[in-house]
Amino acid sequence: MLPIFRPIKTADLQNIARVFVASLNQRHLETGLAPIVDLSDETAWNTMWEAERRPLFEHVSAHAAVGWLAEDDGEVLGYARSIQRDDVCQLTDFFVLPGRQHAGLGRELLSRAFEQVESPSRLILANSNPAALSRYMRAGVYPMCTIFDFERKARPVSVETDLEVGSLPSEAEELEALNQIDKSLLGYTRPQEHTWLAEQRSRLMFFRNGTPAGYGYAGRWSGPLAALDDNDMPAIMAQIETNAAKSDATFGVMVPLANRTAMTYLIDQGFHLDTGHTMYFMADFTPPGLDRYILSMPGFFT
Ligand SMILES: CC(C)(COP(=O)(O)OP(=O)(O)OC[C@H]1O[C@@H](n2cnc3c(N)ncnc32)[C@H](O)[C@@H]1OP(=O)(O)O)[C@@H](O)C(=O)NCCC(=O)NCCS
Repeated sequence: MLPIFRPIKTADLQNIARVFVASLNQRHLETGLAPIVDLSDETAWNTMWEAERRPLFEHVSAHAAVGWLAEDDGEVLGYARSIQRDDVCQLTDFFVLPGRQHAGLGRELLSRAFEQVESPSRLILANSNPAALSRYMRAGVYPMCTIFDFERKARPVSVETDLEVGSLPSEAEELEALNQIDKSLLGYTRPQEHTWLAEQRSRLMFFRNGTPAGYGYAGRWSGPLAALDDNDMPAIMAQIETNAAKSDATFGVMVPLANRTAMTYLIDQGFHLDTGHTMYFMADFTPPGLDRYILSMPGFFT
């Protein structure tokens, strides 16, 4: 039977998440990386789904511009989703089952879930898969910056700074401050992500003389981290790592290479640099402040 294409529904989320894991497991096998989880181990999968993947998959779908899947006789073969934030459409997911790749399903999914979305600007956080990269470039979205992973077991670190950690009187004022920082670094705002991130991770707001100077999120996954002044990046990273250390977590960050201050700090700190997970910031516009920004891990959205 020919596959059919239809919009993703809430009831599909676990099935599309399984496609995500199966296709990335295969990609990891090809590139010498460990699998995300063994999908034949139902207990391991269910634990990961409930603890990590379900919140993320539900958040993206609840705030998605569009999501499409391909299915054959009830089996999900592949899917793609994107979110719209201000003028920017960002592809968040693009995955096809290993046995069904290279047959045009990706082309059809990307067309429906990304290229046909009316939007002045486009953005993708891409891995190094040539099949994906070639599709993205043919959609007019090109690599602007390489992204490296750094990771270690979080430890308390101290960096001298005059920044203060604090909060604003209300969540609305805090969201407004976050929006202003995002606008000046990314070129767009995404309050939906901040609301969700604050439920999943610890948010720290940084101030200088009472004025917001940056922010960061710590948790099982770290990021995003932002500093209006690049000199503040090391202090913000140190504070977020120290926070992560309190819960015995790993501190891992996805750093755009444009962020030289962060790269230098992390290398000087002896972090393990993992080029196996190299990604690309692809866009058809130039974000103003990638030199002062660290992405949210895992790389579904900025
Ligand atoms: C990326 C992915 C979704 C693409 O799905 P797909 O169904 O295989 O895609 P399609 O068959 O429509 O298109 C693949 C294209 O890549 C091209 N391609 C493959 N390898 C290539 C290479 N080394 N250089 C250039 N183009 C290449 C193919 O020629 C094909 O283009 P064509 O249709 O014009 O011939 C799928 O490969 C996948 O799930 N990969 C693993 C997960 C992943 O890496 N996802 C991307 C996350 S950013």
